[in-house]
Amino acid sequence: MAQPCPDAGSTTRPGAVELPLLAAAHRPGRLYTCRYRCGDACARPVPNRSENEYFGAVLQRAISRRGALRAGAVITLAVGSTGALAACTTSPAVAPAAEVTASGLPRGLDYATVPVNNTDGITLPPGYASNVVIRWGDPVVPGAPEFDFANQTPEAQAQQFGYNNDFCGVLPLDGDRLVMFNNHEYSIEPLMFPGYDEENPTETQVRIGMAAHGLSVHVVERDPATGEMRAVLDPLNRRYTATSEFLLTGPAAGSALLQTSADPTGTRVLGTLNNCAGGVTPWGTFLSGEENFNQYFANAASVVDPAVLARAERYGITEEASERKWERFDPRFDMLAEPNEPNRFGWIVEVDPQDPTATPVKRTALGRFKHEGATTHLAADGRAVAYMGDDERFDYVYKFVSDRAMQEGGTRAAREANATLLDDGTLYVARFTGDSPAAEITGDGAVPADGAFDGAGEWIKLAAGTESFVPGMSAEEVYVFTRQAADLVGATKMDRPEDVEANPVTGRVYVALTNNTDRGTEGKAGPDEANPRTTNAHGHVLELEEDGGDAAAPAFAWRILLVCGDPDDPGTYFAGFDKSQVSPITSPDNLAFDGRGNLWISTDSGRALELPGTPAGINDGLYGVSLEGPTRGRTALFASVPNGAECCGPVVTDEFVLISPQHPGDLDGASPETPQSTWPDGPGSQPRPSVVNIWREGASGPGRIGE
Ligand code: FEO
Ligand code: CA
Repeated sequence: MAQPCPDAGSTTRPGAVELPLLAAAHRPGRLYTCRYRCGDACARPVPNRSENEYFGAVLQRAISRRGALRAGAVITLAVGSTGALAACTTSPAVAPAAEVTASGLPRGLDYATVPVNNTDGITLPPGYASNVVIRWGDPVVPGAPEFDFANQTPEAQAQQFGYNNDFCGVLPLDGDRLVMFNNHEYSIEPLMFPGYDEENPTETQVRIGMAAHGLSVHVVERDPATGEMRAVLDPLNRRYTATSEFLLTGPAAGSALLQTSADPTGTRVLGTLNNCAGGVTPWGTFLSGEENFNQYFANAASVVDPAVLARAERYGITEEASERKWERFDPRFDMLAEPNEPNRFGWIVEVDPQDPTATPVKRTALGRFKHEGATTHLAADGRAVAYMGDDERFDYVYKFVSDRAMQEGGTRAAREANATLLDDGTLYVARFTGDSPAAEITGDGAVPADGAFDGAGEWIKLAAGTESFVPGMSAEEVYVFTRQAADLVGATKMDRPEDVEANPVTGRVYVALTNNTDRGTEGKAGPDEANPRTTNAHGHVLELEEDGGDAAAPAFAWRILLVCGDPDDPGTYFAGFDKSQVSPITSPDNLAFDGRGNLWISTDSGRALELPGTPAGINDGLYGVSLEGPTRGRTALFASVPNGAECCGPVVTDEFVLISPQHPGDLDGASPETPQSTWPDGPGSQPRPSVVNIWREGASGPGRIGE
């Protein structure tokens, strides 16, 4: 997600706090993404004003108890083995010795690195090809009308592919068919409607915007002879929008905190909002995280109940009118009319792709915050573990461990049992402790004397079922106001945690921390060993090893894998690998693994990294990252996305790669009259967020990715 909003100065509302000077300097960059995706989060006060500082006081106790990871340690404790399309299992697996090609690169990463660029298209290594699978406006529901940019309607949009698809997940269906899940994080009305008046949207525009949000489930078919993948109209296909019905389940469902005048049961919500990343579960469902939901609700500043106001502030609910003005047409988006309506967003959503009639659910047991997403991995005993990040400056990393083990076998009984797996369990938040003296964490990225940013960590219990572990808060309050609960137990303030995901081959867990230019600025938390750079503009990636290799463990060891940015910057770090041989990378966002356990990172930088050949800042892309052997830490750009786009939704298999370029053309000067990208349809067209399929061209059909 976004680098410090590059044009925050021009988008800040009256009364909002201005960015620090470092980040406020205007330069060519995103025009609308900061405002329409995050509600200008970077230009507003940091919501976390709690006092829990870095836990240096427990350093020696923690280290003597646990011991830190050793650089280059061979990891033999593994949970699960999976290709990107297969469900995780609990079969113990040993991390394979890094299998290398003749060129010495790990198998799967032996492609010609793509140079960083400012190309308005998909740039791939030689020998690779791509096609667009589905675009904004393409029919999803059978019978949906074809896209007509000049004559959009809410009814048509509710049957078509939504705007700004982010997460992408696939599961095998039959033959060469897959079922694909995409979420539609947010709409950008000024790019969707010619002559859009931001102060006076029409009701039709508002209703189209609501229908452009949400989720898509649809079937795709891959041609194994050519490598191309196409969307297919199928009875399984469906759209969920900002007005579709969702069930609230789990321990907070029905709570008075979730009741509204339209839903006195506190269990039925209309819509899902700002869904960012997600995951594919081992039991065959899709998860999606409701992220910057706060921006859709208005008038928090007029709330008089101090407790309600404090909770609204901690979640950054919009103080006055909202950006899209939905409250003018639906009063549930006005906090004064419905103070509990915002509490019904900020959850993890679960969708069963096999049952088009099932109502999707919001799982309260996984807590409420700005969920980047949730990825699941099975513990040694088969329980489901969901890893989650709260994407906000100085917010936290969480995990959930289910009470029950996943039922194997895919029988009806197993499916029914797994359908409630995420309703009962324990919610934890992470605390990180470094093993180097605080004086050695200088804030400029210099590696401490022991050679690593590393240490120990613990998962602090927040709640389990109806039991709260947070003094002064009931379990219901912990689930609904999880941020405040985590504040009270001393969680570690992180640099915007995005994807958190376990490597299916090694069991190690990786955390993408996208950036935080407020780190170390006046009045804010300073650098610590887990977040070692002040004004962290380019982000970093952590590597965790759960105790005993068990995802359900209460403690872990950790170290930093990458400190991102310009490799020529001495403050960057690529696991000790030769920095002259890596691709520049900034703002790590989404993570994926291929079947060999290689890490893949997609970026969301807003062109934050300016290099001599790309003074406008490098386009975002998908990078392969070596984790094992002598090339550990090597980053290699595999695919770059069009001008103004971020690279979302990576899926990496042996046969194909999927990426989702989001908000193409969102650059200074963008409008329907003056588009700044014409991808994917070419000259004379409007930019359209899309899913892209990539394959390697072989002598007689597609070859294996990365070999
Ligand atoms: Fe929507 Fe955290 O990116
Ligand atoms: Ca250290």
